[in-house]
Amino acid sequence: MKQDLTKLLPIQFPIIQAPMLGVTSPGMVAAVSNEGGLGSLPIGGLSPDAARTLIKATKQLTRKPFAVNLFAHEISSVPRDILQKMWSFLVEFAKSKGYQLDSPSLPEFKFYNHRHQVDMLLEEDIKHVSFTFGNLDNESIKKLHAAGVSLMGTATCLQEAQILESSGIDFIIAQGIEAGGHRGSFLDGELPRIGLFSLLSNILQKCKIPVIAAGGIHHSQSIRAAMELGASGVQIGTPFINSVESQAIPSYKKRLEEATGTDTKLTCAFSGRWARGIINEFMQEVELSGLDIPPYPYQNTLTASLRKMAQAKDDHTMTNLWSGQSLPLQETRSCKDIFLRLLY
Ligand SMILES: Cc1cc2nc3c(=O)[nH]c(=O)nc-3n(C[C@H](O)[C@H](O)[C@H](O)COP(=O)(O)O)c2cc1C
Repeated sequence: MKQDLTKLLPIQFPIIQAPMLGVTSPGMVAAVSNEGGLGSLPIGGLSPDAARTLIKATKQLTRKPFAVNLFAHEISSVPRDILQKMWSFLVEFAKSKGYQLDSPSLPEFKFYNHRHQVDMLLEEDIKHVSFTFGNLDNESIKKLHAAGVSLMGTATCLQEAQILESSGIDFIIAQGIEAGGHRGSFLDGELPRIGLFSLLSNILQKCKIPVIAAGGIHHSQSIRAAMELGASGVQIGTPFINSVESQAIPSYKKRLEEATGTDTKLTCAFSGRWARGIINEFMQEVELSGLDIPPYPYQNTLTASLRKMAQAKDDHTMTNLWSGQSLPLQETRSCKDIFLRLLY
């Protein structure tokens, strides 16, 4: 058995609220941290200024520790004709659904990754940083460690966990295939699709650093099961999506209440990275188009304005509905309520 997270981090319960970009609000982070868990604020892909505003808003709501979550992806270049074909398809598809995308020419591509955010995190005195989509570069690891920051990296197979461990990361977040949202996978080749229990056992056998279990954990029994297998703690996302503090639109919350695990699947349609969400028309039409889907973050930028317009109209058919395989069993409640129920 590895050490419990409560002995390793300044928290009362070994439960981390998963960072969920687009869903997590400062209020969600603060509610979980205030109850003795570790809230996580997602800032993946945001400009340092936008991220700092969210950090400051969270600090207004809690004096307890919280984690900040980064995207550690590299940015490749993509042939323009692949981008143009996808964009032309999206413009036409949007039109057929009553949405007007601004222009026939491509949107501006402006990307941020963790390298743009690390100095701001140090200025804001953040002490816990989690990340996904890759590993931090050595310089960032050194800077953050020198400031006493604990680092938690996401792995979806043993090889990724070993890469994180050998570069000095402090905790591994083992993300099983059940998990909602983006896969943290970062190695070339076939996407690892390993269920949480097998993944946990693989990693616990070979790695020495503490492991946090993520994917499909939604009640006290599943928390205990993961910890019984040797996890030091758990990271939980989907059960918080239909909370009062969530930024999810009402029709997304409703779909979560109606759906079951078989209504979710992995797709690249929204962002160009594999992610699990509830099946909807946008996902199906982009996949059926037969077009090459540009990799993250390009596809994410191409689909951003349409998703934003759909959200403004509470249209669940045209935006991403990230969800894990263990869907919420209850109606909308406060994060405090959801967190307290996880304990018993
Ligand atoms: C809506 C949503 C958004 C997510 N966004 C992020 C993110 O920004 N950063 C991250 O590290 N993980 C993200 N994840 C993945 C979670 O960290 C975690 O792996 C997952 O929620 C665990 O599975 P569960 O949803 O079944 O609890 C997201 C998950 C969901 C459901």
